[in-house]
Amino acid sequence: MDDLKAKYLGEIADAADEATLETIRVAAIGKKGEVSLKMRELGKMTPEERQTAGPALNALKNELTSALAARKAGLADAALDERLRNEWLDVTLPSRPSRQGTLHPISQASEEITAIFAEMGFAVAEGPRIDTDWYNFDALNIPSHHPARAEMDTFYMHRAKGDDRPPHVLRTHTSPVQIRSMEAQGAPIRIICPGGVYRADYDQTHTPMFHQVEGLALDTDISMANLKWVLEEFVKAYFEVDDVELRFRASHFPFTEPSAEVDIRCSWKDGTLKIGEGDDWLEILGSGMVHPKVIAAGGIDPDVYQGFAFGMGIDRVAMLKYGIPDLRAFFDSDLRWLRHYGFVSLDVPTLHGGLSR
Ligand code: PHE
Repeated sequence: MDDLKAKYLGEIADAADEATLETIRVAAIGKKGEVSLKMRELGKMTPEERQTAGPALNALKNELTSALAARKAGLADAALDERLRNEWLDVTLPSRPSRQGTLHPISQASEEITAIFAEMGFAVAEGPRIDTDWYNFDALNIPSHHPARAEMDTFYMHRAKGDDRPPHVLRTHTSPVQIRSMEAQGAPIRIICPGGVYRADYDQTHTPMFHQVEGLALDTDISMANLKWVLEEFVKAYFEVDDVELRFRASHFPFTEPSAEVDIRCSWKDGTLKIGEGDDWLEILGSGMVHPKVIAAGGIDPDVYQGFAFGMGIDRVAMLKYGIPDLRAFFDSDLRWLRHYGFVSLDVPTLHGGLSR
């Protein structure tokens, strides 16, 4: 019995995990374990022998049972200690250095513009930045020898000699998305399309890539008055002022008739711009009633549907709102500039929550 005790207590002490402990338990005090078999032999003993062997066997069984339980608890404690060691976190460490990147002012302005027009029921549409010259020009009533093509400083995609697929261009404006949206959705339609556009031009106020937002609303009863209201609401919301004065200046675009460029009343005092007061006017967009030929090119009957379209420079209104003097800085990817002019990426602009903070 002493041998049994020494053997099993030794094994229990050496057991490295619960599975091993269980094997030891079965071998010692399980139904067919060594100690249990010995207990069965009690029946064959004389009463005297039984009187000493019985209590001794019971004591051995109890001792092994508690040794098993103690070792099991010890193993669990060790496992917990190990886990705590691994998952330890020094909460007294300083936090990470402040954020590196911010939301670019063009992204911010696009989000703000989208939030405002969404509130007025405009959905966001998209189109490719590389488009055919049909979408970029012909469908918009700009035939091949129209002077507007030359004015736009278009980037044409290279074509190998003998390749007679229709020419592709980097879109010079977001207006081709008018046609694509009409084709895809039909009428009535109310969309805006923010996105990048390209023209071969470079100075303080021009970059070869810049951003526009197109607007298009077609229905059976839309007039210039609706255009004016929508733009007034937009400008008030975007510049976060209570009142604005818009000026519609007669203009010409091949794809709208009549056409108007829109200025807003403003003042420049000590280099800062104030919207809604003063004696200056600031041009912010081109607009008009969509030309019947353009509506027809989009696959819609211009005798039934009419409406307005506008195109606004996002970079321009972002510069105006956030006091950014040089357009070219938008495209420099200078982190110091971005830290100064950028926005916290989690502050999604909404009309009720505030556009910019
Ligand atoms: N596409 C014009 C431009 O880029 C803007 C515009 C859009 C004007 C829609 C009128 C209607 O200058």
